[in-house]
Amino acid sequence: MSISAILTGTGRSVPEKVLTNADLEKIVDTSDEWITTRTGIKERRIAAEHETLSTFASEAGRQALEAAGVAPEDVGLLVLATVTPDMPIPATACKIQEDLGCVNACAFDLAAGCSGFIYAQSVAKQFLLSGRCQHALVIGAELLSKYVDWTDRSTCVIFADGAGAVLLSAGSPPRGVLASAMHSDGSMVDFISMPGGGTLHPPSQKMIDERLHFIKMKGNETFKMAVRSIDEVCREVLDQAGLTPADVDWFIPHQANERIISAVGKRLGMNDDRCYINIDRYGNTSSGSIPIALDEVVREGKIKEGQIVLMAAFGAGLTWAASVARW
Ligand code: COA
Repeated sequence: MSISAILTGTGRSVPEKVLTNADLEKIVDTSDEWITTRTGIKERRIAAEHETLSTFASEAGRQALEAAGVAPEDVGLLVLATVTPDMPIPATACKIQEDLGCVNACAFDLAAGCSGFIYAQSVAKQFLLSGRCQHALVIGAELLSKYVDWTDRSTCVIFADGAGAVLLSAGSPPRGVLASAMHSDGSMVDFISMPGGGTLHPPSQKMIDERLHFIKMKGNETFKMAVRSIDEVCREVLDQAGLTPADVDWFIPHQANERIISAVGKRLGMNDDRCYINIDRYGNTSSGSIPIALDEVVREGKIKEGQIVLMAAFGAGLTWAASVARW
């Protein structure tokens, strides 16, 4: 009998502190009007000084387990998609494992920029399909506010903090992840990067003075690549699953920019109520954005069993990825 990877539980956790566009007007030379028309963002959540990535990632994971009714010790794999871990060593996934009591899981972090959640979901799906485990906890989480240059108006208005999680469980078709695809193109590594803090520019006073420990982004170039790549990868997974955009009940895109989402939606003919947008409230939470959005849709009771859910993302690397699931 064939096995499928079913999304059985979701969760989300975001910081309490809200930073509005009006707040940003006091920090950098920007305006609510510019941010709203160029990005669709009205406010975002920002972690407090004492809060770390695992504060939110563990809570999102806990909620996903609770929603699925699965005990922590039954989880065989715990993957955390992030580029903003608690510490470079060890993997923050191990801290989350300890927080949640997933004592039988192998745990590791996965870095694929904003595509991280879809990458992690694809890896988890393979673990389930190969029979390696019954339940896999996939968490997408970022605290980008800690890496943002608060003097750079082109990035500090966009990036934000938050965590979402999904439990994938082995089950039987027709439910489950029907198809997924992942792509990378390293020729554009400098489109979105944080050059300092690694082996290229190890921590030093010079590295800090040159502000290499902050996120840099070529926004315009990234924008063009994003629209084309998300459109293509969505068509690729729909084709693999024998579906068309007309079959999709919910489109949950990575929340990078409302203009990117609506341009992709237009190309796919899904620029309507099926396309979920919450960037106005959260900004770009990178790996956190899709699972946060998914959890909102699920907890509002909008997704019904049997419906088709399309997820797609694009981010640093460059990387892009999509998956389509029958709920
Ligand atoms: N407030 C006011 N003006 C700003 C600003 C801000 N927060 N940020 C940039 N500007 C200015 C620029 O300095 C520039 O001014 P100039 O023409 O005098 O030089 C002008 O606005 C236009 O900048 P540009 O970068 O061309 O704007 P844009 O329309 O491309 O919008 C982004 C910028 C970042 C919103 C947009 O490029 C984008 O969203 N790109 C994709 C980024 C992305 O998705 N990244 C994550 C991938 S996961």
